[in-house]
Amino acid sequence: MGFVKRFGSVALLATCATMVSAQTTKKSDDSAPVNATGPYYGPWQVNATIDPKITPNGPLYTGNYVAPTTAKYDYAEVIHKSYLFYHSQRSGKLPYQRLAWRGDSCFKCTGSYGEDLSGGYYEAANTMKWGLPLGFIITQLAFNLWAFPDAYVAINEWNEGLEAVKWGTDYLINAHPQDYIFVGQLGTSAVGTTDVDFGYFGPPEEYEMWVPLGIMHTALYVTPQEPSSEITGESAAAMAAASVLFKDTNPAYAATLLNHSRVLYNFAKTYPGTYNNNTKFALAKEWYPSSQFQDEIAWAAAWLYIATNEKAYLNDSITYYNNQSTQDSWSEYSWDSKGAGLHVLLYHITKDPVYATNAKTYFTQWLPGIGSNQTIRQTPRGLGYYENWGSLSYAANAVFLMLRHAKDLGYTDSYAKTLVNFAIQQINYILGDCGRSWVVGFGENSPLRPYHKSSYNSYIDYPMRGQNQSLVGDDFLNSFTLNRFILYGALEGGPAMDDSYFDDRTNYVYTEVTQDYNAAFTGALAGLVDYYGSKNFQPFSDCGLDLGWGHKNASKPPTWPDDDCYHTCNKNCSTSKKASSMPTGVEASGPGATSTPTSAATSLTQGLTLLSVSMITIALSLLL
Ligand SMILES: *[C@@H]1O[C@H](CO)[C@@H](O)[C@H](O)[C@H]1NC(C)=O
Ligand SMILES: *[C@@H]1O[C@H](CO)[C@@H](O)[C@H](O)[C@H]1NC(C)=O
Ligand SMILES: *[C@@H]1O[C@H](CO)[C@@H](O)[C@H](O)[C@H]1NC(C)=O
Ligand SMILES: *[C@@H]1O[C@H](CO)[C@@H](O)[C@H](O)[C@H]1NC(C)=O
Ligand SMILES: *[C@@H]1O[C@H](CO)[C@@H](O)[C@H](O)[C@H]1NC(C)=O
Ligand SMILES: *[C@@H]1O[C@H](CO)[C@@H](O)[C@H](O)[C@H]1NC(C)=O
Ligand SMILES: *[C@@H]1O[C@H](CO)[C@@H](O)[C@H](O)[C@H]1NC(C)=O
Ligand SMILES: *[C@@H]1O[C@H](CO)[C@@H](O)[C@H](O)[C@H]1NC(C)=O
Ligand SMILES: *[C@@H]1O[C@H](CO)[C@@H](O)[C@H](O)[C@H]1NC(C)=O
Ligand SMILES: *[C@@H]1O[C@H](CO)[C@@H](O)[C@H](O)[C@H]1NC(C)=O
Repeated sequence: MGFVKRFGSVALLATCATMVSAQTTKKSDDSAPVNATGPYYGPWQVNATIDPKITPNGPLYTGNYVAPTTAKYDYAEVIHKSYLFYHSQRSGKLPYQRLAWRGDSCFKCTGSYGEDLSGGYYEAANTMKWGLPLGFIITQLAFNLWAFPDAYVAINEWNEGLEAVKWGTDYLINAHPQDYIFVGQLGTSAVGTTDVDFGYFGPPEEYEMWVPLGIMHTALYVTPQEPSSEITGESAAAMAAASVLFKDTNPAYAATLLNHSRVLYNFAKTYPGTYNNNTKFALAKEWYPSSQFQDEIAWAAAWLYIATNEKAYLNDSITYYNNQSTQDSWSEYSWDSKGAGLHVLLYHITKDPVYATNAKTYFTQWLPGIGSNQTIRQTPRGLGYYENWGSLSYAANAVFLMLRHAKDLGYTDSYAKTLVNFAIQQINYILGDCGRSWVVGFGENSPLRPYHKSSYNSYIDYPMRGQNQSLVGDDFLNSFTLNRFILYGALEGGPAMDDSYFDDRTNYVYTEVTQDYNAAFTGALAGLVDYYGSKNFQPFSDCGLDLGWGHKNASKPPTWPDDDCYHTCNKNCSTSKKASSMPTGVEASGPGATSTPTSAATSLTQGLTLLSVSMITIALSLLL
């Protein structure tokens, strides 16, 4: 990709001028695939006296990795923590608090059609909802469950996985107020040269109080005149994939999703276009440039075929697949590019060897070995390194597809064995084989200073509350203070090309976390549980985790039912009975249920009882 893929930062604050110029340069530097000889890509911002460069001490990669015959890491634990990370990203009125340091937010998030846009997930460190990556993570979270259902059920993560999908699809339903009107973005990252969301470093719970320029979360719409087939296509894919999961247990909800998916798919096809061409979405294009939209249409059609079994969708998927106008989509699997996912999905559906061949072409780029045609470099300790910004996620995305494809081929197939071997090597690198863990709150030397705002400045602990955001941002970026709460499960961007790393928030190219990094990663872990055999893993629970409830400003933790083995230390649950995922006294939300602005306002006042009266007054004056 020839572009900066994300930023999620303080582009324009004066304190970050050097970062901005480095960033601008990077756009062109980054167009090369991966440069194994250059030590770093990123604009390291280091104060060496306090911030040592860390080179992990794992063994160097020798070129002939042999995966352990029994699982080396507790993949079930990482899945559990990865889903916790999605809780840290939740927007809107929370039915219950899983983390003491995250509460209700997005109090003024009503769209122009009166729709409630408070739900869904915030992107990365910020409170933006960018349509394309948001749609992708929901599709991928559904894809994970679809790909390895038995593993998720066996380790008691299935219900949690469904809940994570539904938190996303509830938002997508609301974001679709009319057939050919869809919310393509919620929030304002900047206005002119002034950062708004990107210049806000406090917790989402207090956004309305302190955001620069006082600009509330506003919605930008995809319309027939200003189309985005990548956003409507990806959102259609997400809803179709989710409908498959809910078909048996919540058929009404599945039907609602399918209806929205069909309409959005027609929207994408009938009004083809990319948001790159639309000045309204100029900032989306800057941070999440889309390379094309044909792949999202093919992707949506494939998932609609899986959901409906209607041949016309399969036909469409293949037509668009065969007509992808650039090679881009074939070299990466990501929020932007679905080509490789289509190879695997279309092979699964049709068993036509042409898709297996294309999948192989994609995988070959990653696979090392004698006589290999690998084009993607590996770090000295063996990470497949696609690009510096989010390197771990590109590897995790690729190995998720490898694992799913291996399952289709059968784990005893010799090519499947090659794929699985590489997948284990990559995932184990991430979890500790390189000499450290890259997942917050898991394993040895896990990261302490992820580039993530609410785990640093939480609504229950925000020492600089009320100060100029430029100072708050300076502290967030440049202080060496640890994030105050543990952002369990977040997969960081990753190392430099030489495996090295600085554990600080300044080097956000490497320390940023975001839901799309974790999405296929969560599925790849389930793939490994499936491969090694789920009977070899124990369900993991919140027992012993520090979710912030011990903090002196924390409210009361939810009370879980006695027979809940997911959130409590109780280990005595029969396997046939899935754990409850709602605390006592909380109604499970019905299909598409959403909070009303009134109830959100009430909970704001409840949530802020720790704040001074004057702050509550400010909060209320914003709401009224
Ligand atoms: C790779 O990095 C080296 C050292 O930083 C640089 O001289 C060279 O031009 C780079 N090559 C490419 C293809 O980017
Ligand atoms: C680096 O950190 C030390 C210790 O906090 C401080 O004294 C020094 O001024 C810092 N240097 C720079 C260039 O920021
Ligand atoms: C879905 O759409 C069909 C046809 O328009 C309609 O009959 C049905 O009631 C819709 N179902 C839901 C759950 O919205
Ligand atoms: C988008 O704009 C580019 C040039 O800026 C043009 O080549 C392309 O055809 C446009 N695409 C669509 C779908 O409008
Ligand atoms: C399949 O697609 C082709 C064009 O690619 C079209 O001519 C044909 O009618 C389609 N068939 C169905 C069943 O939709
Ligand atoms: C194939 O893609 C090209 C370029 O993206 C587009 O102009 C053309 O209409 C597409 N053809 C079909 C059948 O979708
Ligand atoms: C690499 O490509 C060459 C030429 O296409 C082919 O003969 C060889 O089998 C490939 N190697 C592997 C490991 O696929
Ligand atoms: C909560 O706790 C921290 C430190 O323990 C304190 O500095 C802060 O002011 C407290 N109150 C609020 C409302 O954040
Ligand atoms: C915050 O600080 C910046 C930079 O020092 C300054 O330009 C701006 O006016 C300040 N804003 C407020 C509201 O004081
Ligand atoms: C485990 O649960 C069953 C019923 O679900 C109960 O009969 C049994 O006493 C429990 N065992 C322990 C050790 O709590």
